[in-house]
Amino acid sequence: MTAGIISVGSYIPAKRVSNEELSKTVDTSDEWIKSHTGIGNRHIASEEETCSYMATEAAKDALNRAGLVKEDLDFIIVATITPDYKDFPATANLVQRNLEIGNIGSIDIKAACTGFAYGLELGRGLILGGTAKKVLVVGAEKLSAITNWDDRGTAVLFGDGAGAAVMGSVDEGTGIVDSVLRTDGTGYDALNMPTGGTATPYKPGETPKEDMYLYMDGQRVYNFAVKVNVDIVKELMDRNNLIPEDIDYIVPHQANYRIILAASRRSKIPLDKYYLNMEEYANTSSASIPLALAEMDSKGLLKKGMKILTVGFGGGLTYGGNYIVW
Ligand SMILES: CC(C)(COP(=O)(O)OP(=O)(O)OC[C@H]1O[C@@H](n2cnc3c(N)ncnc32)[C@H](O)[C@@H]1OP(=O)(O)O)[C@@H](O)C(=O)NCCC(=O)NCCS
Repeated sequence: MTAGIISVGSYIPAKRVSNEELSKTVDTSDEWIKSHTGIGNRHIASEEETCSYMATEAAKDALNRAGLVKEDLDFIIVATITPDYKDFPATANLVQRNLEIGNIGSIDIKAACTGFAYGLELGRGLILGGTAKKVLVVGAEKLSAITNWDDRGTAVLFGDGAGAAVMGSVDEGTGIVDSVLRTDGTGYDALNMPTGGTATPYKPGETPKEDMYLYMDGQRVYNFAVKVNVDIVKELMDRNNLIPEDIDYIVPHQANYRIILAASRRSKIPLDKYYLNMEEYANTSSASIPLALAEMDSKGLLKKGMKILTVGFGGGLTYGGNYIVW
């Protein structure tokens, strides 16, 4: 048996904030953001658009696109670093509640911008191991809720949204062929939420405001991101005897155009093989790869038999990717 993606779906909040609009409240400019990141817009969730709400809507879209019903699912994985509730319950449990389905398992995974790549491999394992027949894997983020809007170094980078995939058994020769999943925990402090966990609890009146939001050392993350993009693509290609000409698309985490440009040059893989949409959605962490896949599906770009690499990298520090034959 082979396991793979049967369908993809997405949910994007209607509120769209351009660089120009952001520049009215953050000390930045369209020119700086575009030239340093390739980002032009981001979508920002309303109060009602919680992480679980967006995840559920993306799941419904993926089910609709496949002509499946929610009862077909028997496991839910949600990759997110912006869960509805900080420690528990899992956001996947709230998706189960929203979908109103029983007899189903659910977990969250916290692998930041690599979360969806981890989710696909875990989904494959559940299916091949016989635990589940159809697994819903969602990447969903409400990063606007943990962004310090007074910090121009991070406020310009992130957006909200959700992307989903329904996984199941697929035709021999297609599906998730291989995955590389990696962690470098020594870099835990390069991109993280400094406060609120049990190591550094929030102390009213003492915890500085900026510690309550996402923290990032931009340069450190940039250097890491370029290096691991090259490493993941090389490892997936080497392990599967692929040459650049074999690959139809690389779908990277949509963090920053400059990171992808540098990685493409070093990997000697033409930039036009990379599917990029950070211009519209900015960095949506674990949602970015499934959002890109759903957009590619809507545009009719995904054809059976295509060879696709996903590449995730981000907080944790985590990195990894999947080799998919569509
Ligand atoms: C964040 C990032 C774009 C910053 O670019 P950079 O070239 O490293 O810029 P620096 O932080 O060195 O800052 C350069 C200057 O721009 C300024 N600057 C930073 N953010 C700015 C903004 N949004 N608007 C205008 N100016 C800004 C800085 O204050 C600094 O000014 P100075 O030279 O007067 O001190 C870059 O480090 C990066 O892409 N990092 C990876 C981020 C990422 O993708 N994270 C998520 C991975 S999952």
